Amino acid sequence: MNKQTLNIGLFGFGCVGYGLYQVLNKTNGVQARIKKVCIKNPQKVRPVSDVDFTITASELIDDPEITIIVELTDDADAAFEIVKAALKQGKGVVTANKKMVSEHFAELLDLQKQYQLPVLYEAAACASIPIIRNLEEYYDNDTLSRIEGIVNGSTNFILSKALNEGLDFGETLSIAQSLGYAESNPSLDVDGFDAAYKLQILCAHAFGLLISASDITRIGIRSIGQEEFRYAREKGFKIKLVAQAFKTSEQSIAAFVIPKFVSAQSPLFGVDDVYNGVITETAFADRQFFSGKGAGAYPTASAVLSDISALSYNYRYEYKKIHNANATELDTDFRLQVYVRVPLELGKIAHSVFDSIDVLQQDKKGICITGLASLQRLQELSGNFQEAAIVLCDGEKTSVTTAEIQTFELSEL
Ligand SMILES: NC(=O)c1ccc[n+]([C@@H]2O[C@H](COP(=O)([O-])OP(=O)(O)OC[C@H]3O[C@@H](n4cnc5c(N)ncnc54)[C@H](OP(=O)(O)O)[C@@H]3O)[C@@H](O)[C@H]2O)c1
Repeated sequence: MNKQTLNIGLFGFGCVGYGLYQVLNKTNGVQARIKKVCIKNPQKVRPVSDVDFTITASELIDDPEITIIVELTDDADAAFEIVKAALKQGKGVVTANKKMVSEHFAELLDLQKQYQLPVLYEAAACASIPIIRNLEEYYDNDTLSRIEGIVNGSTNFILSKALNEGLDFGETLSIAQSLGYAESNPSLDVDGFDAAYKLQILCAHAFGLLISASDITRIGIRSIGQEEFRYAREKGFKIKLVAQAFKTSEQSIAAFVIPKFVSAQSPLFGVDDVYNGVITETAFADRQFFSGKGAGAYPTASAVLSDISALSYNYRYEYKKIHNANATELDTDFRLQVYVRVPLELGKIAHSVFDSIDVLQQDKKGICITGLASLQRLQELSGNFQEAAIVLCDGEKTSVTTAEIQTFELSEL
């Protein structure tokens, strides 16, 4: 393979863009230099003086000396226009923008085919963890049956801090924002959108499943309160926002993002703060576990750097599992072992979500039920009632002690 020297046209010089500049200056491994950087705000004071900045995209896109475009803006719509223009001009692309990759996944496949050029996006899922290329290459022959992971660092930071320090959601969110871990509009993280974007991308590379993020059942962490943390502490669990996808038959995959009580037996138990972790299960290798920083300037830039290096070897995703004739589809018709807590007035509605109930507890403030519930009805409950705290149980069944079971009459509600 020929290794080329790359002239990079970089879009964005924020957390990751500046991180990439620093990482490139510290490594000799990749033969690449940033020729020009396109940013949005020309008035902003920049931390470096040896970089050629512009606000005109075409100065990068139309420069014949620039061989690749690295897209590190925070604007998904602008990012897609940049990627399209770059490919049209014969330049391969590296991007970290999960929202853009998720929203335009099918179009990106077509564009790569049309122009016979790669778009690489390792940093878009779990930042420093090299999961996409592993799903694409390493698990090419060993059939994957499951992926399960903590893929959003902000919510993991919030949940870790709330559990360890007894703080409530609002307090931990403010701390996460002040440390730059959460968006100023936190909905992307706490309502599970970011995790769903990443799970969609992982599903395409893991199973060849082409879906949109909106197809994925998504329940966020907003309603999780002190009752859930107390329950978790009593049982020796932690609460994590977990994205998971697994085969329910040869051709169908379940995929959802739902908070989960994680026991100490799971490798995800030790994944705290802004770290991410992904478990894979395959036919022959059995269970494997990846962990690493899921955000931050250097960890994210390291994945971008790896993609730049891969481009210099003409690497591209082959999407073999997508092109495989055995197309897979999304399965939403199954049941999960789950914990639900609602205020008293929603007790009847919460009860109707369950096919079978193991434990039901009621006090003045609310009702807490664990049992087997349909995924679709859980999604409806979560979508219609923000007050409903929903957490997956770890394992097949929660343990039930007689003392926990109370007689329950619907007419009492
Ligand atoms: N931060 C992380 O830890 C992390 C981890 C994984 C993936 N990512 C992804 O990496 C990307 C960059 O994130 P970030 O944290 O570096 O964002 P950021 O700090 O907010 O920086 C965004 C940069 O994009 C520039 N920009 C915005 N719109 C532009 C446009 N139309 N043309 C040119 N430049 C434009 C901004 O310019 P100005 O400087 O002029 O405002 C700024 O330099 C995002 O897609 C994010 O989802 C980030």
